[in-house]
Amino acid sequence: MASSTEGGFTVWLTGLSGAGKTTIGHAVAAELERRGLHVEVLDGDIVRTHLSKGLGYSHEDRDTNIERIGWVASRLTRHGAAVVVAAISPYDATRKTVRALVEEQGPFVEVWVKASVEECARRDAKGLYAKAFAGEITQFTGVDDPYEEPDDAEVVADTVALTPDESVALVMAELERLGLAPVAEPAAG
Ligand code: ADX
Repeated sequence: MASSTEGGFTVWLTGLSGAGKTTIGHAVAAELERRGLHVEVLDGDIVRTHLSKGLGYSHEDRDTNIERIGWVASRLTRHGAAVVVAAISPYDATRKTVRALVEEQGPFVEVWVKASVEECARRDAKGLYAKAFAGEITQFTGVDDPYEEPDDAEVVADTVALTPDESVALVMAELERLGLAPVAEPAAG
């Protein structure tokens, strides 16, 4: 049987800052690499230091950022990579635009990394929620800027209810079900 994993695909993690996108994204990427796939991670925080340097957090700038990431993801997908995107991507219409762009080249698997604003603010690893609530930074997603919840995500990983490992397992199970990731070999021993 021809491998079902020859073609590229994109796993797109969307959710609030601090919901767990980067943690889950990197763990999924490592697992895909372990299973022999060529993987690239596009993380919003990193992309904003290169490809999207200079962009801010207005609706327009976020759309430009997401469309750039979507374009790169589609090109990599076309060449057989397993692309893992971790970006807030707060706007439903923009997520649908990048989905359509990627789907011209291969499957698009949307993962809503779900956690409430209250929980993300409690974690506040970067201290940004405290600043946003204090009004020191504005247009902060979930505080004074919108996050449009997905209605078409293939996977919903509720990171309040699940451990990071459980969220990763949920994503991997969906990728296996879709024939995108080879089923893991049992551990030796
Ligand atoms: S997106 O909205 O354009 O998809 P992206 O994922 O690239 O956002 O970047 C979000 C990251 O930028 C956050 O994780 C956070 O570290 C930082 N950040 C700085 N200011 C803001 C803001 N106003 N809203 C959201 N994130 C911000």
